[in-house]
Amino acid sequence: MKTYRRLLRFMARYKGYFFVSFLCMGGVSLAKGALAWAAGPLAQGIFLSKKTSILAIMPVVILAIYIARGLSMFGQAYFMALVSQRTIRDLQNHVYERLLRMSLSFFVRNPTGVLMSRITNDVSLVQQSVSKALSSLIMESMTIVVLFTIAVVKDPMITLIFVVVLPLSTIPVVRFGRKLRKISTKTQVNFGLISSFLHETITGMRIVKAFGMEKYENSRFRDRSQRLYKTRLKSDLVRGFSEPVMDLIEGIGVALVIFIGGSGVIKGQIDFAEFTTLMAAIIMMYAPVKKLSKVHYMIQEGMAAADRIFDLVDQVPDIVDRPDAMELPRVARGIAFDDVYFRYEDKMVIQGVSVEAKTGEVVALVGPSGGGKTTLLNLIPRFYEVTEGAIRIDGRDIRNVTLASLRRQIAIVSQETVLFNDTVRNNIAYGLEEIPNETIVAAARAANAHAFIDELPEGYETEIGESGLTLSGGQRQRLSIARALLKDAPILILDEATSALDTESERIVQEAVNRLMQGRTTFVIAHRLSTIIDADRILVIQEGRIVESGGHAKLIEQNGLYKQLYDRQFADTPAPVEGHSG
Ligand SMILES: Nc1ncnc2c1ncn2[C@@H]1O[C@H](COP(=O)(O)OP(=O)(O)OP(=O)(O)O)[C@@H](O)[C@H]1O
Ligand SMILES: [Mg+2]
Repeated sequence: MKTYRRLLRFMARYKGYFFVSFLCMGGVSLAKGALAWAAGPLAQGIFLSKKTSILAIMPVVILAIYIARGLSMFGQAYFMALVSQRTIRDLQNHVYERLLRMSLSFFVRNPTGVLMSRITNDVSLVQQSVSKALSSLIMESMTIVVLFTIAVVKDPMITLIFVVVLPLSTIPVVRFGRKLRKISTKTQVNFGLISSFLHETITGMRIVKAFGMEKYENSRFRDRSQRLYKTRLKSDLVRGFSEPVMDLIEGIGVALVIFIGGSGVIKGQIDFAEFTTLMAAIIMMYAPVKKLSKVHYMIQEGMAAADRIFDLVDQVPDIVDRPDAMELPRVARGIAFDDVYFRYEDKMVIQGVSVEAKTGEVVALVGPSGGGKTTLLNLIPRFYEVTEGAIRIDGRDIRNVTLASLRRQIAIVSQETVLFNDTVRNNIAYGLEEIPNETIVAAARAANAHAFIDELPEGYETEIGESGLTLSGGQRQRLSIARALLKDAPILILDEATSALDTESERIVQEAVNRLMQGRTTFVIAHRLSTIIDADRILVIQEGRIVESGGHAKLIEQNGLYKQLYDRQFADTPAPVEGHSG
């Protein structure tokens, strides 16, 4: 019920259209009643009295009724489509808007495919339930009322028989409906699993092929499609079973009416024309009743889908602005980590990190894989919230400022460069409005990207394909560096920005990075230590702790973990550093 009311709120805006559609539904029902009503005089006039005048009039009358019914049907379908399609569009937009607000941890928890199926598949189930189901519900109910009234007027006693049989036919409907709702939820879960799987394997097709895993993935897909098949089959069976059951009940009803009504006619207790109209009304009444049972299933399915959608919509983002959050002014002094602890779920990944970075400084993070470098830097834009301790910018706890004003001041270049299926120009100017072309070109030049962009078929207007797949790894990185340059943020986060490159492209990208770092507070993660020798401070992170910190020369001198990492990288070309005991 609650779900239904929430959906109705989405529809409320279009209640004008709904009202017109409602009137048309009334037209359809009345037309059906008129047909039943006409059956009596028609049978009487033609078959019993054999009047030619009836033969001349009735076809015209019936044709007119059909035309009226057709027009009403079109009207109700048209206006209902306006209501349902608009409602669904609004719902879809609403879900996506909520989705955008979720924190990153939400997207780690929920598989992409499942989220996608909420916005596509589930929404279309709701749409069916809103358009087809709702209009049938109203139209068929009205038709039943009209036909029932005719039947009662003609013969209340016989109608009573029908009324006794009718409730019987709703028993299977209600029982099966509940079952169907459960099956439908399972179906959607299985459908979500399939979409996730497709998303993963299609985007990772290169790896699938490289490892010769086609057979393996194929069998995994078959597993999933088999599961979907089973639940879908079950729901078809439930539906398929309920229809004959209803038919049987219909048969019993009609047989009873024929027997009782027929004997009435033979005994002369009931007029023939009256009886014919009554029969027509009662027989015509079963079709709407049957349709209503299908509507019941559709509504059950739609409501289950709506439940899932609203579940998603109702999730509260972990990280939101505090009510008294203020705007963070442009960074002046720098960033300080103050005894920061952080855990994902239950694993403490950052354990008591304190470090300060003044404006213009370059702080490098190195250390063994899985040590927590990326995690630590993810705390600055509040992708995740610190568990204990605080991060301060110019002395302000970043939890006390608005997310928008914080993130506006941070540019990120990560190893997995994220590009969108859009033009080169829009990818560079991502998030910025009305940037003059010259500025974009200047950023591209500084990022050593202008030359290759110029050679693209349509230059800056070239579409670069999904995730920028038409570009090389180095080209993609230079685009994301250009994007960061253009953003001109005072804080810069570079996560292994040059690690995927060969020496020559690395030199080109490094040049661009150096230009990017000028005048900003930079945090840089690098596995290639050659790229960070000039950093103001190097932090060696291991198991979530800073185990060493200082300049390159000092750390080499300390002869600790950094020295080990350094030696390992330059094993071929011994570094010209004092204290190196080969
Ligand atoms: N979303 C997550 N949920 C739970 N644990 C996570 C999550 N992301 C990372 N971890 C764990 O946190 C630890 C630190 O990961 P992190 O990515 O920060 O390491 P890193 O130092 O950047 O490693 P690398 O040098 O390989 O990039 C790892 O043990 C990892 O398994
Ligand atoms: Mg990392």
